[in-house]
Amino acid sequence: MPEKSRFLRGSFAPVTDEVTAFDLPVTGTIPAELSGRYLRNGPNPLGLDDPGYHWFIGAGMVHGVRLRDGRAEWYRNRWVRSRRVAEALGESWAQGPVHAGSDFAANTHIIRHAGRTLATVEAGALPYELDADLDTRGPYDFGRKLPGGFAAHTKVDPLTGELHAIAYFWGWDYIQHIVVTSDGDVIAADNIPVPDGPMIHDFALTERYVVLFDLPVTFSMDAAAAGAQLPYTWNATHQARVGLLSRDGSSSEVRWFEAEPCWIFHTLNAYDDGGTVVVDVVQYEGAYDVSVLSGGGPLTLDRWTIDLAAGKVLRRRLDDRPQEFPRVDERLLSRPHRYGYSAAIGEVNRAIISMNGDFGDQAFGNALLKRDLARDSVEAHEFGSAATAGEAVFVPASPIAAEDDGYVMAFVHDPDRGAADLVILAAQDFSGEPVARIHLPARIPLGFHGSWIPDL
Ligand SMILES: [Fe+2]
Repeated sequence: MPEKSRFLRGSFAPVTDEVTAFDLPVTGTIPAELSGRYLRNGPNPLGLDDPGYHWFIGAGMVHGVRLRDGRAEWYRNRWVRSRRVAEALGESWAQGPVHAGSDFAANTHIIRHAGRTLATVEAGALPYELDADLDTRGPYDFGRKLPGGFAAHTKVDPLTGELHAIAYFWGWDYIQHIVVTSDGDVIAADNIPVPDGPMIHDFALTERYVVLFDLPVTFSMDAAAAGAQLPYTWNATHQARVGLLSRDGSSSEVRWFEAEPCWIFHTLNAYDDGGTVVVDVVQYEGAYDVSVLSGGGPLTLDRWTIDLAAGKVLRRRLDDRPQEFPRVDERLLSRPHRYGYSAAIGEVNRAIISMNGDFGDQAFGNALLKRDLARDSVEAHEFGSAATAGEAVFVPASPIAAEDDGYVMAFVHDPDRGAADLVILAAQDFSGEPVARIHLPARIPLGFHGSWIPDL
């Protein structure tokens, strides 16, 4: 009998119930200025015994906590109701647009834009819109304005409110740059020719450019024919390159710069600096096998400086501690930043590389990191043995607060209770006692990305 997928065990194991709980117990004090919802998406497959299951293809489940007046009003977790999920739960599907047959319970991120809460995913599928209580409204194509699918990661210009996304799809010989106004109107969906069908999970934005990463993980028809759930493989013949697309419309041409072969899921942030573009990335050196999430070399936080005059990319190591899920104060997105937050994930890489499936409870390491790029220092908040911390999101104390004047929040597994806490750290006392630990009534599997959605 085939072994159970490693992504169905330990800290990755899905939960089987949707829970609603009110007036959650808290250790510490929830800052009164935090009024809104923290939402986080992640895979939570309905079937629990698929030996070929890959973490990236599980049906999305959104976990949310509602804060108001210093109280944690509720916790909810809800599956995103794609047609397949709705039918599996014995419900009728909400109906709506589907791109190229790719109806999927979006599992990667959750964002709020132009008054809509959207669970997002990439590779051809549309987002799903959720209501304030995380119930699914249906698939969303921006009022039929999207020509194809959408993207998991988006970037919002903090001054204009304009949202950018890069869509890709195995059936396209291009990628698509999408621009959505702060009102939700799609004003551009421009095709950029790119060979081989690369996976493009994230990108970066500066005031002048959209920064594209065309890296050697590409669609594989052979892998698809062999039944791979995620038919993307390392392609040594695909030139790694980073591209700059002008935001001012002066040119629709992308200027490409060759780079060393590597893999990047995520960028921290990017900005223009005179004749250069600076991008901070979490980088996997060498060949990356996305089917088992294993890199050939170290996983590091690096700074790429793209020199426009020289036509070259310079790379500098910022931190060799393995980490993922980099997040910045989003008021500084596309502008120079000083601080970055991430989750230490050394253990998950060792576990995956070892191939013995032993994720244990150490899977994401047990620490959140705060990097000070001006002082070149890092501060860690360690959560102790058997805790697991996922992505952390920075929330400013007020709209005009300084860059690190605010809170960092993440779901952290509490091994003593066998359930998750929403942990709130003061960003300026990062390694100190959490400001608040909100005790949730359920375990939350390791997942992907989230957002703090403040009340307006
Ligand atoms: Fe991501």
